[in-house]
Amino acid sequence: MGLIVRAVGLLALAIAPVLGLSQFPLSSEQYDAGLFTPYEDLHALSALEYTTLRHPGFPAHSVRIKESRICDGEVRSYSGYIDIEARHLFFMFFESRNDPATDDVMFWTNGGPGGSSALGLYMELGPCRVTGPNSTERFEYAWNDRANVFFIDQPVGVGFSYADFGEQVSTTPEAAKDVAAFVAIFFEHFSQFKDRPFHMAGESYGGRYIPLFAAAVYDQNAKLVEAGMAPINLTSVMIGNGCTDELGMMEAYYDAQCGDYGFPRVTDISDCIRMKQIVSRCKKRLQESCKDIYDAISSTSTKLFSAVNPYDALRPCKEDADMRKCYPEVDFIESYLNIPAVKEAIGVDVHRNYTAINLELNARFFMAGDHVNYVAEDYLAALLERGVPALIYVGATDWICNWIGIGRMTLDLEWTGQESFRSSPLRDWFVDDEVAGTTRSNGKLTFATIDGAGHMVPLDQPERGLALINRWLASRPL
Ligand SMILES: *[C@@H]1O[C@H](CO)[C@@H](O)[C@H](O)[C@H]1NC(C)=O
Ligand SMILES: *[C@@H]1O[C@H](CO)[C@@H](O)[C@H](O)[C@H]1NC(C)=O
Ligand SMILES: *[C@@H]1O[C@H](CO)[C@@H](O)[C@H](O)[C@H]1NC(C)=O
Repeated sequence: MGLIVRAVGLLALAIAPVLGLSQFPLSSEQYDAGLFTPYEDLHALSALEYTTLRHPGFPAHSVRIKESRICDGEVRSYSGYIDIEARHLFFMFFESRNDPATDDVMFWTNGGPGGSSALGLYMELGPCRVTGPNSTERFEYAWNDRANVFFIDQPVGVGFSYADFGEQVSTTPEAAKDVAAFVAIFFEHFSQFKDRPFHMAGESYGGRYIPLFAAAVYDQNAKLVEAGMAPINLTSVMIGNGCTDELGMMEAYYDAQCGDYGFPRVTDISDCIRMKQIVSRCKKRLQESCKDIYDAISSTSTKLFSAVNPYDALRPCKEDADMRKCYPEVDFIESYLNIPAVKEAIGVDVHRNYTAINLELNARFFMAGDHVNYVAEDYLAALLERGVPALIYVGATDWICNWIGIGRMTLDLEWTGQESFRSSPLRDWFVDDEVAGTTRSNGKLTFATIDGAGHMVPLDQPERGLALINRWLASRPL
């Protein structure tokens, strides 16, 4: 695959703060006296330059934000950085097409690790999609249909996010700290969204990110309240084609390739026998001693499966089975976001090169064992236990994070609702009187498959994807 991104951070030249500096930061006395006024109104922001916002509750942080006027122009959009000391997280924010003043707020991150959320924005669920290296068009089934939606490039080093001194993030728990700070600062500044139901959504490796990110936001709420600030109204988590339980997925690779689950039979019997032996050996051992074997089987599986698209057994790839070769949109997005006029419109330094997938960071996460070092599904179960609902949806033709492994993960989650979830029937769900997939729900936890979709549901099945998300936002179970 093409470019390998070096650790960003040489470009310490942040765009100069332009507004508000004279009154910030306030001393804690001023804050206590109620002199801090949050930036209530996004509509008052400039489209020409960044407005810099500071908050006495977060002395090491600031926000640079501007109106961005890209995409379809139908709704207002904003972009900028949340600056957390020397780390700078880039975000795009789109108001709801319905009613920005009352609709929920949704946070979105792509996975990877190392994938920019511009992939989600411009090829999946954003209000516009790339159609070539220098063009976009309105996307009808965008997820800001009934929600205000954020797209964040995280961790630092991904997409337009950067660190001043080459600081790197190599694990999800580290990334979670920055994300929790980001969320708190956003809501504290844009008080029009305070108390608004907040949903945290992600895809693929986001199945490991989101449970930890949401747990960090949840735990941070206690501190916010202690400091006299409003808690974040964390209302649900949504995970699409998440590789939450990577070890469980290993077993599911064997089943997808060698069992009768509807995937193409591209694996020889002899390879299936070999995989079966590895899987059962590995299952007998502790997770710790499985790591090396796990890596071996993952790469073997990917190789065996390279005849077809690992993100979608229904759709072929040109040449190699990697994200870039399978989806030409990735290169379009990279070209588009490297156009100086586009960078100017979103307020990014024109000298900052954009890469959609940071492979160096990806390798760093795997080398740090981030894919097996913590049990993401335990975080998910803990969130459910505290009353945070979860939507776990899966495009049914994806192989890399497939419904077999994800479905088992939902059944195995250990929480007080486990039995009621397990005893809930798996039933069809419908869009326009057509079966859209299957679902199981006990009210708090909902699992759903989407027929005809691979790894990226809104790309392959836009109408079903939006129906799913709108129903979830409106009423939780489908
Ligand atoms: C992109 O398209 C616009 C409008 O057609 C054109 O003005 C601009 O020069 C193009 N930019 C690049 C980098 O191709
Ligand atoms: C969170 O949002 C829900 C739905 O709008 C609302 O009923 C609830 O009061 C909010 N909670 C807080 C703490 O603001
Ligand atoms: C961006 O890419 C261009 C062209 O490949 C290169 O000349 C330039 O040095 C890069 N800039 C940075 C900051 O890496």
